[in-house]
Amino acid sequence: MSDDVLVVHGGVPLHGEIRVRGAKNLVSKAMVAALLGEAESRLYDVPAIRDVEVVRGLLELHGVRVTEGEDGELIFDPANVESANVDEINVHAGSSRIPILFCGPLLHRLGHAFIPNLGGCRIGNRPIDFHLAALREFGAVVEKKPEGLYLTAPNGLHGTKFTLPYPSVGATEQVLLTAVLAKGVTELRNAAVEPEIIDLICVLQKMGAVISVHTDRVIRIVGVPRLSGYQHRPLPDRLEVASWACAALATHGDVYIRNARQVDMMTFLNVFRTVGGAFEVDDSPEGGIRFWHPGGELSAVALETDVHPGFMTDWQQPLVVALTQARGLSIIHETVYEQRLGFTEALVKMGATIQLYRECLGSTPCRFGQRNFLHSAVISGPSKLHGAELEIPDLRGGFSHIIAALAAEGTSTLHGVDLINRGYEDFEAKLQALGARFERA
Ligand code: EPU
Repeated sequence: MSDDVLVVHGGVPLHGEIRVRGAKNLVSKAMVAALLGEAESRLYDVPAIRDVEVVRGLLELHGVRVTEGEDGELIFDPANVESANVDEINVHAGSSRIPILFCGPLLHRLGHAFIPNLGGCRIGNRPIDFHLAALREFGAVVEKKPEGLYLTAPNGLHGTKFTLPYPSVGATEQVLLTAVLAKGVTELRNAAVEPEIIDLICVLQKMGAVISVHTDRVIRIVGVPRLSGYQHRPLPDRLEVASWACAALATHGDVYIRNARQVDMMTFLNVFRTVGGAFEVDDSPEGGIRFWHPGGELSAVALETDVHPGFMTDWQQPLVVALTQARGLSIIHETVYEQRLGFTEALVKMGATIQLYRECLGSTPCRFGQRNFLHSAVISGPSKLHGAELEIPDLRGGFSHIIAALAAEGTSTLHGVDLINRGYEDFEAKLQALGARFERA
């Protein structure tokens, strides 16, 4: 077991106020976009998380000067973009999935790219076949070697028509970051349209890109010869907001999350209300959303995770913890990742009643049906949770273990908690602000 250990004394409702910063899944991509510009870019409200450190390290290796302003501001100067040493790049191997998005920008700026082997959470196979197919359509030549990917573009990158087999967030970003400076027009069909993607399009538009989002998941990009810099305040982290909201619900607490934004979370808010949680949107300039348990019993729900505007796969794990406290049978059909229910094993160890199924327990059969993936869950509640010794498995599953430990009676010992720093800024300070009882072992 890992030796970064948090000991949590459960049974204390979370009460108080915290603030979330820019979304991890936009900030890291906006940082990569800075590489495409010929002028300085400024990104505000950047969270101090591991993924940001990794991308910063890769940018600096490629000659981008990164400096820090006030209060989470990062300034990127791409005046001296240069090739980086493969061994130095490889220091970042296995640490994140974002490096794959450097392909297009590096091909445009340098004519070649080296991408280390990717990391990220083990929540499924997570192939990059869509990324590579799209890059080849643009004219990139990709060579796979044990240490990573080598890319060149002997004839430059040219706009193309490409249809994604599935609306992948990362592959859509790959196409956007490549098409903006490619010669001619690119039409992407079956694109992902998550709010983080629309925000990335806003960043690129500020830089001088011409991108239009059409109905039915079609995005058209007219390539331009050069891009400038941007100044951007990212959308708030709606994944982190949902995590803390579920922590409030599961612990019978009351948490005000400053900077949480309703428009990006409507699907989550509907489910939160259906389960029996209460929330109130504060629209004042430095507003947010208050989430609380209004008393009484929580109700079971049946839902499927899906691409936007569906219920996000990253909202599923914290919600499941709250559902262990709801009366009746809840059903979750995970349709985005094939192995994103493994974290429930720990909840069962803590006293929850959860059964996993290979079948699609939802109204629409998904890509994972009949393929031996335990991707549906039935949760029977309410269950009294008790403390346990657990290993943090991945980012969202790991945070849900923390929620379960906070909601449980007794003490839990959580190993490997440093992984949470990959995506949750200052989570221990936030736990403290909300009155949780815990200590580092
Ligand atoms: N897929 C392929 N081939 C590809 C790309 C994706 O088969 O080339 C499949 C994946 O295996 C998965 C599905 O398509 O089954 C969706 O994957 P997607 O590409 O949309 O995910 P991603 O870009 O790798 C981002 C977020 C995830 C979030 C998903 C879905 C980042 C850094 N990560 O991942 O966030 O769950 O979109 O919204 O933006 C997290 O923050 O903890 C996290 C995992």
